[in-house]
Amino acid sequence: MPQQVRGVIARSKGAMVELVDIVIPDPGPGEVVVAVAACGVCHTDLTYRDGGINDEFPFLLGHEAAGTVESVGEGVESVKPGDFVVLNWRAVCGRCRACKRGLPQYCFDTFNASQKMTLTDGTELTPALGIGAFADKTLVHSGQCTKVDPAADPAVAGLLGCGVMAGLGAAVNTGAVGRGDSVAVIGCGGVGDAAVAGARLAGASTIIAVDRDEKKLAWAAELGATHTVNASDTDPVAAIAGLTGGFGADVVIDAVGRPETWKQAFYARDLAGTVVLVGVPTPDLRLDMPLLDFFSRGGALKSSWYGDCLPERDFPALVDLHLQGRLPLEKFVTERIGLDDVEKAFHTMHSGEVLRSVVIL
Ligand SMILES: NC(=O)c1ccc[n+]([C@@H]2O[C@H](COP(=O)([O-])OP(=O)(O)OC[C@H]3O[C@@H](n4cnc5c(N)ncnc54)[C@H](O)[C@@H]3O)[C@@H](O)[C@H]2O)c1
Ligand SMILES: [Zn+2]
Ligand SMILES: [Zn+2]
Repeated sequence: MPQQVRGVIARSKGAMVELVDIVIPDPGPGEVVVAVAACGVCHTDLTYRDGGINDEFPFLLGHEAAGTVESVGEGVESVKPGDFVVLNWRAVCGRCRACKRGLPQYCFDTFNASQKMTLTDGTELTPALGIGAFADKTLVHSGQCTKVDPAADPAVAGLLGCGVMAGLGAAVNTGAVGRGDSVAVIGCGGVGDAAVAGARLAGASTIIAVDRDEKKLAWAAELGATHTVNASDTDPVAAIAGLTGGFGADVVIDAVGRPETWKQAFYARDLAGTVVLVGVPTPDLRLDMPLLDFFSRGGALKSSWYGDCLPERDFPALVDLHLQGRLPLEKFVTERIGLDDVEKAFHTMHSGEVLRSVVIL
């Protein structure tokens, strides 16, 4: 029987989000209904609301979630009712050209549920990133459910579903940070601070956090930054050089995604170092710089989608590291809120007061 539950939707471009009744179909083949326990508020939810992703309104928002499998459809063997799972937006297909080349982190055909969740009048909803978890329950593809240790706090584990994994993976997977490396992270919101935590986990010995906001720098220091640089009064490139023997850092991560921060990342790295762009630029932004500088510095200029993660590989391991006290993911949960507080959380996010607000269901 289809179920009626509460969900947070964005009905039209820029309009305030609404808490409404939505209809969740029974899971079809390959599908799973998950009872959501917690879901973080990410910038991308706001971008959906503002029409910055596409025009397929109404959206069912929310995509950084953990919960319990309630029911599974035909053929689902990877999870069963009662399993504690983190939801992901990279259920790799195993068949596309990226998967076949052994690079499933670039999978071009990731799985989502085939049936639609709807409003009570039958209007089809577009779930944010194929998840839609600002809701009591959601319908996803079984591949979007990654089992992790149920001892983890859902508010904490769910954050691996997007921003924290993106930042952590930008350091560990894309940047391949190793023991003894020097790393600089520009922009220390949830994503940048996760890159800081990832760099520490990977054994970086110098971790330089750059932000314009002292509160963010204080959080970065708690998560493992060995040095902080306030970009509102200090030139980050000179400061990073000064902290790395005049050479620059081995890996510099831009977690803002603007031409000026990317250029800082480019010039703040050592010769043959790596730049990782994990912040998402808006379509209007342009880069203009001497091509010779690129040639003469060598190294690698990379971008990182979802931290190049593979949920099945990365989520359980990171949850285990967290439960062992080796990865303080709980520090990313700044506040716990209700399902009717999402609009307010967008404002809190904008004013930079939180790493993450997490909706508890
Ligand atoms: N690549 C991915 O898969 C992925 C996934 C999730 C989010 N993101 C992106 O990562 C970026 C960061 O997300 P977030 O949640 O951490 O955002 P956030 O707004 O919480 O953090 C951004 C931080 O950058 C700082 N900042 C802004 N301009 C700066 C400058 N010129 N110099 C130094 N610091 C500056 C801000 O003070 C803030 O602390 C966003 O663009 C987001 O869309 C990417
Ligand atoms: Zn694929
Ligand atoms: Zn997100």
